[in-house]
Amino acid sequence: MKVTVVGAGAVGATCADNIARAELVQELVLLDIKEGFAEGKALDIMQTSSFRGCDTKVIGVTNDYSKTAGSSVCVITSGIPRKPGMTREELIGTNAKIVEGVAKSLLEYSPETIIIVISNPMDTMTYLTLKATGLPKNRVIGMGGMLDSSRFKTYLQMALNCSQGDLHATVVGGHGDTTMIPLTRLASLNGAPVSDFLSADELKKVAADTMVGGATLTKLLGTSAWYAPGACGAALVEAIIRDERKVLPCCVYLEGEYGQNDICIGVPVVVGKNGWEKVIDLKLNEEEMALFNKSAEAVRNMNSVLDTIVA
Ligand code: 2OP
Repeated sequence: MKVTVVGAGAVGATCADNIARAELVQELVLLDIKEGFAEGKALDIMQTSSFRGCDTKVIGVTNDYSKTAGSSVCVITSGIPRKPGMTREELIGTNAKIVEGVAKSLLEYSPETIIIVISNPMDTMTYLTLKATGLPKNRVIGMGGMLDSSRFKTYLQMALNCSQGDLHATVVGGHGDTTMIPLTRLASLNGAPVSDFLSADELKKVAADTMVGGATLTKLLGTSAWYAPGACGAALVEAIIRDERKVLPCCVYLEGEYGQNDICIGVPVVVGKNGWEKVIDLKLNEEEMALFNKSAEAVRNMNSVLDTIVA
C-alpha cells in the first residue's frame, strides 16, 4: 500500500507524520515543488521511527510525480495558506490553478487513486478536482467537516469539562467562517443532548467560536493551523486504508441528497476502501435546512468563479 501527500508545508508534513506514526502504509511519498523541501521533511519524519517503532518508508520528492505511481490514496494540501484577516475564499485565484495541475499529475501515475483535498477554499477545490479529473464521485473527498467538527468538539469539551471521546457533534455545510453549520441540536454527550447541560447562550457561543475556529488560529499563529488539519487528513486516509466504514463529515458531490445537486459540500458520509460510499441523512429541521441551503448558495457562487480562473 502506498499513499502520497502533495505539499510538504505545515499541513502536508503533519498529515504525513500522522500517517507514518500510525503505520498505515509501507510507503509514503511526500512531494513538494520547492527543491529539497519534501526530502528534508521526509528524512526528519523517518528519524522519529526508531523510538516510535514504526517502519513506514517516507520518501521526499521534488515535483517528480512518477515517484507517486500506484498510490491508493493521494492527499492534496498544495497552495497558499491564509494570512490573518484573509478568508479561505480569497485564496481561490492562486490555489485553483495549483490544485488542478496537481490533481491531473497525480491521476496520470495513479489512475485508481482516491483523492483527498485539503487546499482552500476546500469545497470549491474539491469540486474543481472532481471536474478536472473526471473521477467517479466516490473517489474525491474534501477534508473540512472533520476539522470543523473537531473544533466544535473542542469548544464543547471546554464548556462541558468532559472527555472529547464522549462527544458526538457534527458540522455540515461549507468549510467557511460563515457557511459552516455546527449542529448543536444533534450534539450529544454519549447520547444525552448537550442542551441538557448548556444554556442556549452557551451553545450559541460554542457554535460561534467553532465557525471562526480557523480564523482565530490564523490570527494567533500568523498563518493557518496545521496540527488538527494534518491529523484530520491522516484520519481520513486511515478510514480508507483500513476500510473502517466510519461516518465522517466530508465534502462530497451531491446528486439530490440534502436537496442539492452539482455541488461538493460537507455532509456525513460512510468512508471505506472505495472512498465515500453513502451520504447519511441527518434529517435536518427547517431552520437547519435553511442554513444548509444558504451555505450551498455561497459555495455555488464560489464555484462559479472557477470559470474565470481555470480555462
Ligand atoms: C483551517 O480551517 C486550514 O482550512 C484550514 O484551519
